[in-house]
Amino acid sequence: MPSLHDNAPSTTRIRFARVEADRYDTHITRNLSSMRGQFVDEQAYRRLLAAGDALLYEVFEFKRPEVPGELLSGISVVHPGRVGDEYYMTKGHFHQVLETAEVYYCLSGRGMMVMETPEGEWSVKALEPGGILYVPPRWAHRSVNVGASEDLVTLFVYPAHAGHDYGTIERKGFRKLVVDRGNGPEVVDNPRWVS
Ligand code: F6R
Ligand code: ZN
Repeated sequence: MPSLHDNAPSTTRIRFARVEADRYDTHITRNLSSMRGQFVDEQAYRRLLAAGDALLYEVFEFKRPEVPGELLSGISVVHPGRVGDEYYMTKGHFHQVLETAEVYYCLSGRGMMVMETPEGEWSVKALEPGGILYVPPRWAHRSVNVGASEDLVTLFVYPAHAGHDYGTIERKGFRKLVVDRGNGPEVVDNPRWVS
C-alpha cells in the first residue's frame, strides 16, 4: 500500500462483486491461524500471521438433518492471496463416510481442486465459472484460489450423512500443491507429504 506521502503513481482496486446468500444457516470463517502446519513455507506463514490473522475462506451452509437421503449444500468463498508461493486454500478433507461423493459448481473466480484417494491416486482439476466438478466417493478434496484478486466462489452439494475427516490431511497433507513461482499456477509435489 503506498503511503499518503508517497508521490508515485499508484492504483487501488475496488471490489464490486461480493457474493452473499440471501439466507443461510451457518457462516464458517477460517483464518490463517486455523491453518497452522498446512502451508509448506513455515517462515512465510509465521511472517504473515505476525502481520495479522487474515481471513482465508468462508462457508455459508444450508442445514438439513445429517441423515442418509438428505443433501447438504452451501457456498464456499476462498479469498485471493498466498502464503509464500502457495495460494490460499481450504483445509481439505476426506468424507468420514468415504463412499460419498460431492458436486461443486463454480460461480465465479478461478481455482483448482486438489484431490487424492487413500489408494494413492491424485488429480487436480480447474474450477472456472460455469464448470461443474464431480468429486467421486473416496477422493479427498481441497479448493485453491489461483486468481490474482478475485474470490473463488463455488456451490457444493453432498450427502448429509457424509461427515468430515480433517485429521488425515492435517497429518499427511496432500500429495500435490498448487504454487506460483513466477509463471502462474503450477502443480508440484508436496515435499512434506507423509506416506
Ligand atoms: C463439504 C465440502 C465443502 C467444504 C468447504 C470448506 O463436504 O467439501 O463444503 O467444507 O469448501 O473446506 P474445508 O471443509 O476443507 O475447510
Ligand atoms: Zn467435502
